Amino acid sequence: MKILATGGAGYVGSHCVRELCAGGHDVAVYDNLRDGGHREAVDPRARLVVGDLADRALLERTFAEGRFDAVMHFAARLNVGESVREPLRYYRNNVVNTVSLLEVMQAHAMRRLVFSSSCATYGIPPGVPVTEDMPQAPISPYGHTKLAMEWALRGCAEAWGLGATALRYFNAAGAAADGTLGEDRDPEYHLIPLVLQVALGQRERVEVFGTDYPTPDGSCIRDYVHVEDLADVHRRALESQPAGVLRCLNVGTGAGTSVRQIIEVAREVTGREIPAAFGPRRPGDPPALYADPSRAMRELHWQPRYPEVRRIIETAWNWHRTHPHGYASVRSPGAMAK
Ligand code: UFG
Repeated sequence: MKILATGGAGYVGSHCVRELCAGGHDVAVYDNLRDGGHREAVDPRARLVVGDLADRALLERTFAEGRFDAVMHFAARLNVGESVREPLRYYRNNVVNTVSLLEVMQAHAMRRLVFSSSCATYGIPPGVPVTEDMPQAPISPYGHTKLAMEWALRGCAEAWGLGATALRYFNAAGAAADGTLGEDRDPEYHLIPLVLQVALGQRERVEVFGTDYPTPDGSCIRDYVHVEDLADVHRRALESQPAGVLRCLNVGTGAGTSVRQIIEVAREVTGREIPAAFGPRRPGDPPALYADPSRAMRELHWQPRYPEVRRIIETAWNWHRTHPHGYASVRSPGAMAK
């Protein structure tokens, strides 16, 4: 298939593009190379169009020239805290730009899409594990924008036969097994990369946000899913996409890991001390969030290859150790660690 991957130079996007190229698909990446997008992360088999989704003329030209069969839409802003401070930035990036993309798809009679949704669309779920049928009540503008797009996709499925899968990611984590792709964001705000930056001596300590949650060790529980497992899910979703319907699937391992457990496993994996400080709760953090991924497993015949958080952290450590400055370490190999 000929596929356009928006945000294909970002963390999840780049791993998915590699998976698609390896599966024989012909991929064009559309990315503005800002906010976590890196030229070096783009698979050499893919074509890179450097551009913004807000540039409607470029988007239309790219579609006219590309004659794509499908779109994978990763491009979005995804910092929950930032979305609370700057909601309109999230509506512009995640909603307005996605509507623009859908309009161009409709104009080209393109009916196949895989969309990056989020477990943030559930807000604080009534229980765990989280199933797709639980009520969606986001508690941040980020979550609202992702839910708004799920609604838009449902409308398009009914109105003009769009076939779409909304993949509700839990916590994407880890790095490519061969150590060449990984997480590189500035500023960094996700737990595992922050913990590993402490292990590298780039930060003094990691702060545990909240120790009084109703969980066994008092810290928050999340479902960390390996980014290559996410890539596998995307390829399967694309290849099996039925026309005219919106499918919504949770993508997690089904296992919950606490913040304290993550730090402990990271200490074992890295052999470094990793000092931790214990702070207050971060506003808007649900106490425990892990998926019931059985629908994705059943419908896509998918099984996570990294069900254990230790292996996920090992791959992330392999990336951070060898790329202490992210992709800048590739640009100036002198910065690479031994
Ligand atoms: N955490 C800390 N200290 C830190 C950073 C994070 O204790 O310095 C904790 C958080 O409180 C949370 C867990 O580690 O309990 C994971 O936090 P992340 O920021 O890594 O990830 P989130 O669970 O907040 O965010 C993820 C996705 C978002 C998505 C969200 C839905 O990255 O895109 O899940 O809850 F919206």
